Amino acid sequence: MKSKNLSSLIRSKIEKGKLNPKNRRLINLSFHSLFLTSLIIVNLLALFSSHSCTRPESTTQEAESALALSSKEIAIRNVVKEEVRYFIREVYTDSDWEEKIIPVGAVHKYNAAAGLAIRFISPSGEKEYHLDAGQAYAFRYDERGELELFEGSHGREDAVDLAPFVPTPMEVVERMLAMAAVTKDDLVYDLGCGDGRIVVTAAKKYGAKGVGIDLDPRRIAESLDRAKREGVAHLVRFEQQDVMKADFSKATVVTLYLLPESNELLRPLLEKQLKPGVRVVSHNYEIPGWEEKQVGYEVVTVENGTQHSIYLYRR
Ligand SMILES: C[S@@+](CC[C@H](N)C(=O)[O-])C[C@H]1O[C@@H](n2cnc3c(N)ncnc32)[C@H](O)[C@@H]1O
Repeated sequence: MKSKNLSSLIRSKIEKGKLNPKNRRLINLSFHSLFLTSLIIVNLLALFSSHSCTRPESTTQEAESALALSSKEIAIRNVVKEEVRYFIREVYTDSDWEEKIIPVGAVHKYNAAAGLAIRFISPSGEKEYHLDAGQAYAFRYDERGELELFEGSHGREDAVDLAPFVPTPMEVVERMLAMAAVTKDDLVYDLGCGDGRIVVTAAKKYGAKGVGIDLDPRRIAESLDRAKREGVAHLVRFEQQDVMKADFSKATVVTLYLLPESNELLRPLLEKQLKPGVRVVSHNYEIPGWEEKQVGYEVVTVENGTQHSIYLYRR
């Protein structure tokens, strides 16, 4: 059997509109909305990049990255609803494959500077990939509901991996904020803020206050740089923490760009913390169970031709 590099697999899936990319982060998604089905073969983005906001300094930061992985480590997380059996060995060796069982929700970590080869069985057959050192991965279901391995955002065992870092294209950011009718009186929270572009844009364009939350200190540092660069550091702040443990109850607008299963996980927290009337805007993925709260929907085609769905809800 031929083995493949996971990044190229992810890229090809993205090109088909199923997953996301790069920086090789990625993700997948499935769409649950009927009327969107035809549109939603979305490519999650081409990543351009970068960044902004406040906080710490880098050497330490990179070292204690939210990935919680050293440059030699590889983390594999099981996000599916059953244990997964896989086989692993160092890449480019003839050593024996080692059998492993990863329980639901568990994270397995390996030290392998040269990378690892992994095999597992999915309904469409045996799959083999090469895993890079310093990278996190996650077993998830693909859009057909089949077991697949995707890139992840971190290897921490004390936090859920809600989505790898893939920035929302700026055209989509602009539409998300316009659809939510953001004003200077709003407090915008981006849960999993990446490079801070959404709250910084809300502050710069509308004078809104904003809070970005992300587990990865590199994203927080980028966000802080961006806020300073755009002259809105006095309006926004960025917090390095797990979204699932955050207090965002003061938000008047919440923005999301997370995997569908993460939106589902987050829904009870949104319901518990947000006041009625708060606008929640989600890029590309619906919030399962909030169908009756949906008050808007748009598809934005960005410069490279990819289409992005935006869902607007009122809590
Ligand atoms: C797809 S990116 C979205 C970035 C930004 N919101 C945007 O739209 O451009 C998802 C972000 O969620 C962060 N993330 C993943 N799991 C997280 C968690 N448990 N708590 C906080 N942030 C998390 C990742 O680090 C990543 O930056």
